[in-house]
Amino acid sequence: MTNLLLNLLIQGPQGPGEPAGLQLPNAASTFATGHDGLFYFVYWVCVFFFVLITGILLYSVVKYRRRTPDQAPASNVTHNTALEVTWTVIPLIIVMVIFAWGWKDAKDMTLAPANAHQFEVNGMRWKWSFKHPGATTWAPKVYVPVDEPCQFTMSSKDVLHSFYIPAFRVKRDVLPGRYQTIWFEATHTGTFDIYCTEYCGDQHSRMLAQIVVESKEDWYKRKRDKAWTNLPSDPVAAGEVLLANNGCGACHSVDGTHGTGPSFKGIWGKQEKLADGSTALVDAAYIKESIRSPQAKIVANVPGKPAYGAMVPYNESALPDEHIDMIVEYIKSLK
Ligand code: CUA
Repeated sequence: MTNLLLNLLIQGPQGPGEPAGLQLPNAASTFATGHDGLFYFVYWVCVFFFVLITGILLYSVVKYRRRTPDQAPASNVTHNTALEVTWTVIPLIIVMVIFAWGWKDAKDMTLAPANAHQFEVNGMRWKWSFKHPGATTWAPKVYVPVDEPCQFTMSSKDVLHSFYIPAFRVKRDVLPGRYQTIWFEATHTGTFDIYCTEYCGDQHSRMLAQIVVESKEDWYKRKRDKAWTNLPSDPVAAGEVLLANNGCGACHSVDGTHGTGPSFKGIWGKQEKLADGSTALVDAAYIKESIRSPQAKIVANVPGKPAYGAMVPYNESALPDEHIDMIVEYIKSLK
């Protein structure tokens, strides 16, 4: 009974597959107990005082209304010490409870355990990339083990982003030129969504990624095999996966649609018109240069279409040469 009442008042975190919470999404990290408890505590305190204050207000409006036009005004009560002390002390106690609870949880969420697995996260317009423990290249999806602490050290290549995993109750701004960290311990296996929650440009809403929580056995096997990105052996298919992994599709279509950057359809072997009036042959060298130093050759805007935007350079650690070769093979195939 107490449990039921507690659950109703301060709804505990519901794991994936369990009935959804009242407002928060189902939770899958150890932070959920404290976070959701505090959230629903604040929520029910608000509901309680809303009902109490509105109830007294409505009751008083009805009970003390002027009943006849010539009714004398009520005496002007200036203060009531007992009442004022009560409505100061009780809210003070409540906000101090909220403060202490929030402080403790915020501290726990800031200080990662020393044995946490270390990951790097990079935010850029408009994708997230992850470097797994011991990995040399970036991956578009992040794999973590269940029931073990993981710490993410995050930075941005361009503007302010914000890294948010609702199911884990973790969120932190990601800034250029600065490192921010978050940590968590997942409690359920499965795939969970990662969002960018800071408006960072016109494709902000597409700046999504996924985090996969695996059993310890699966995760350690993946770590041994360094299977952080699963590229097909066919270079054209691998190139297609790499385009998706690196978020190229946010700006470059493969079907001729005009985007923030030129479409890749039919681009191979073409003489591309440049902004300075010259032309450039689209070959492997041109594609590589356009990835490594996008400002070297700027494609002329198409009359009547939105102007092309600037691209962030991808260096060797972001996109190794052999990956560029696969992307070239894929672009060749887009006749
Ligand atoms: Cu990155 Cu919004």
